[in-house]
Amino acid sequence: MSNESWGSRVGLVLAMAGNAVGLGNFLRFPVQAIDNGGGTFIIPYLVCFLLMGLPLLFIEWSMGRFGGRYGHHSTPFILDTMDKRRFWKYLGVFGLFTNIAVAAYYCYIESWALSYAVKSLMGVFGGMSQAEVSAHFDEYVGLGTNWPITFWILCLALNTWVLSRGLSGGIEMVAKFAMPLLIMFGILLAVQGLTLTAGEKGAINDGWVGLNWLWEPDFSTIWSPKVWLAAAGQIFFTLSVGMGTIQCYASYMKSKDDIALNAMSAGWMNEFVEVVLGAAVVIPICVGYFGIEDMKQIVADGGGFGLAFKTLPYLFNNWGDVLAIVAGFSWFGLLFFAGITSSLAMGTPFMGFLEDEFGFNKMKAALSFGLFILLLGAPAVIFFNEGVFDEFDYWAGTVSLVVFAVAEVVLFSWVFGMKRGWKEITDGADITVPTIFKFIIKWVTPLILIAVFIGSLDSIWDTIMFNKETGYLSKPENHNIIIMGRLILLAVYLGLSFLVYVAYTRRRKTGRIT
Ligand code: TRP
Ligand code: TRP
Repeated sequence: MSNESWGSRVGLVLAMAGNAVGLGNFLRFPVQAIDNGGGTFIIPYLVCFLLMGLPLLFIEWSMGRFGGRYGHHSTPFILDTMDKRRFWKYLGVFGLFTNIAVAAYYCYIESWALSYAVKSLMGVFGGMSQAEVSAHFDEYVGLGTNWPITFWILCLALNTWVLSRGLSGGIEMVAKFAMPLLIMFGILLAVQGLTLTAGEKGAINDGWVGLNWLWEPDFSTIWSPKVWLAAAGQIFFTLSVGMGTIQCYASYMKSKDDIALNAMSAGWMNEFVEVVLGAAVVIPICVGYFGIEDMKQIVADGGGFGLAFKTLPYLFNNWGDVLAIVAGFSWFGLLFFAGITSSLAMGTPFMGFLEDEFGFNKMKAALSFGLFILLLGAPAVIFFNEGVFDEFDYWAGTVSLVVFAVAEVVLFSWVFGMKRGWKEITDGADITVPTIFKFIIKWVTPLILIAVFIGSLDSIWDTIMFNKETGYLSKPENHNIIIMGRLILLAVYLGLSFLVYVAYTRRRKTGRIT
């Protein structure tokens, strides 16, 4: 249907990097690192990047470009062209589902970032105590004012508008503008964080203390499955693999465009932003003012949002009025840019599906996505404190990715076959991909993925199960709301599967089956 393609190579790589670089880099990564022992976390994390992340990038980029040749831009039908068995397209539904379900809560955090950037500019946090900054956030997510809903809708409208302008006129333009700014803001804050000096401006530690803690390898707990699962989960989320988004972006490439170098560039750019910038802002600043133990406590109490929204705006006040405003605006501006380049990516698979299968134009497809997110996001926004948000994050942002990745790696390496697969990866490549990846993709990546999946079954089971004594989920008072959240997600998956079924029948009738 659509023969749209990317405007330029720089635009494509920046858009892909923007897809990967997101809130995950600045909010999720530090929390995972802190929760899993700093230096203990980094080794499994890097191993997962090399043996699982990079191979999945190659696989997803080449699957996408392959599907694009047949005019497919979403995973149900991309998977469908790779094998003659018909069930793959229903597994491909994960590639629509994850994006929509994640976007439903992700755009909300993105809107906090936007409104907090505005609040910082207005000097709202100037002179506030730590308790006041913290209470401000609690009031915010408790919907105590009009701000949260107003900014949320504004954010959705902005996403819809950019998406309606298409790839080169919308997404690429935003990426070219947002990515450099984000990196600039990140460097500015990292320099501030790392130059903190014990005894000056209220700091109790040098900025380097936090960074050393993160980078000091610690082998004592390296065999803990929990740490490995967390590392694998972070690699998934941050690289945007197992989601169907990369396939969608790659399906708009031309058939001889390079994959190997592009995938490497976007992947490494994400790692730079995560382990260099993401690590050099939050952790050094918090350790500088609180020390390692207290920082761990803040994370235990309030997670990443506790650090980013309830703590940093207060700490910036130590730097004087002007710098506090600059730092606050940079921090939340950075989060917003990181967020929007990712949420735009989440919109494209569903839009591509509607355009390919139902002949929607850009505007109609973008509006459909925006409306969908508004409806699906509403429970996560309204029942934020009751845990619907976390529920979406767990099922769509954690479990689905692994399930889909297992399916696609089996399809790619074993059904489609490594012989064709390797040809897809190296076709048009501007670098030589080390042959060892052929072996890794065929054996190592599937085995790691299956291990990760089996390792997670325990905690998945625990999450599903009711507490045997009370007969309720963990928090009895929220039991019904959580169940409702899960049923909504299930309904979305089934609804999308139904649309795929309808699309498939239509194709059969018109003979457009490939
Ligand atoms: N990688 C992004 C981050 O680090 C999140 C993200 C981008 C994502 N695209 C996605 C999540 C698609 C789910 C689906 O924040
Ligand atoms: N909610 C987590 C915390 O606060 C962090 C987190 C999980 C997150 N998934 C995310 C942050 C997705 C941004 C995007 O501890």
